[in-house]
Amino acid sequence: MSTFHQPVLLQSACTWLNIQPKGRYVDATLGGGGHAAEILRRGGLVLGLDQDQEALDYVSTLSSFQLALSSKKLILIRANFIHLEEVVTHQKWQPVSGILFDLGASWHQLVTPGRGFSFQIAGPLDMRMDTGLPNTAADLVNNLSAKQLASLLRSYGEIPAALSLAKRIIDHKPYTTTAELATVTGTWSRQAFQALRMAVNDELTAITTVLPQALKVLRPAGRMVVITFHSLEDRLVKNLFQNWSKTGLGQTLTPRPVTPDPEELAANPKSHSAKLRVFEKN
Ligand SMILES: C[S@@+](CC[C@H](N)C(=O)[O-])C[C@H]1O[C@@H](n2cnc3c(N)ncnc32)[C@H](O)[C@@H]1O
Repeated sequence: MSTFHQPVLLQSACTWLNIQPKGRYVDATLGGGGHAAEILRRGGLVLGLDQDQEALDYVSTLSSFQLALSSKKLILIRANFIHLEEVVTHQKWQPVSGILFDLGASWHQLVTPGRGFSFQIAGPLDMRMDTGLPNTAADLVNNLSAKQLASLLRSYGEIPAALSLAKRIIDHKPYTTTAELATVTGTWSRQAFQALRMAVNDELTAITTVLPQALKVLRPAGRMVVITFHSLEDRLVKNLFQNWSKTGLGQTLTPRPVTPDPEELAANPKSHSAKLRVFEKN
C-alpha cells in the first residue's frame, strides 16, 4: 500500500469510468497515482493532472509507472484542473472517454509537517496544495476580518458559533504555525482547519469552474466520476448533474451516491465521508 495516499473507492470509480482499452482518460487529481494505476491496468491511457509538484515527483519516479510513461500511455502535467480544457486541447487528448475527480487533499499533504495541513502535526501554517499560490492559511487568519473569517468557518467548516470562534482566533493573532492555531481552535480544530484548507485552495470555485469544461471535452457516452468528501461539494455536484440531466445533456448514472462498503471502511476509516457520483454525456 502506498504511504503517499490510499485510493478511495478505487474499483468502483474505475468500473463506473467504464474503461475501454486504449480509451483516453483524465485523472484530474493524480495524487499518489492509485486511480491512474488502475485505469492503466484496465487498458486505458491516462492524462494525469495535479497542482502539487510533490504528487508528480512521486508518481514519475515509481518504477511501476516507468513503462506507461515511456510509452506515453501516461502523461503527467502539473496544472490546476481549472485549466482542464486547455490542457486536454494542448495535449491533443480528445476524444476523452472519462474524467475522474477525487477531490480534497492527499494523505501525503495531510501528514507532511512542512505542508501545514494538519491540526495534529506541528508545522508552518501553510495548506497550499500548489506551493506557488500567493496566500497561505497563516495569511488568511492574520489578515481576514472577523466577519470574513466567520463566514468561511461557517460555510466550509459548518461551525455553528463561527463568529465567536473567528473573534477568538483574531484576538490571538499573528500565527505562523499549525500548533499556535490549534491551541485556539481547540475542539473545533478539525472543522476550522478543513475550512481554511478549502479557502486557501479555493476548492469550491475550482470544482464549479471545471465541471462544465469536463462535460465539454468528454466524448458522447463519456463519463465523469466525482468523489467528494464534503457535503457542500457533494451538493454542488449533485445539483449540477441534475440540471444537466433536465436540459438533456446526459444522465446521472448514480441516483444515490456510491459510498465505501464496510470492508473499505474497516481498512481505511478515512474513506467514511466519500461520495461518488457519475454523469454520462449524451
Ligand atoms: C485525494 S488526492 C487524489 C488521490 C489519488 N486519486 C490517488 O489515488 O492517489 C487529491 C489530489 O488532488 C490534487 N488537487 C486538488 N485540487 C486540485 C486542483 N484544483 N487542481 C489540480 N489538482 C488538485 C491534490 O493536490 C491531491 O494531490
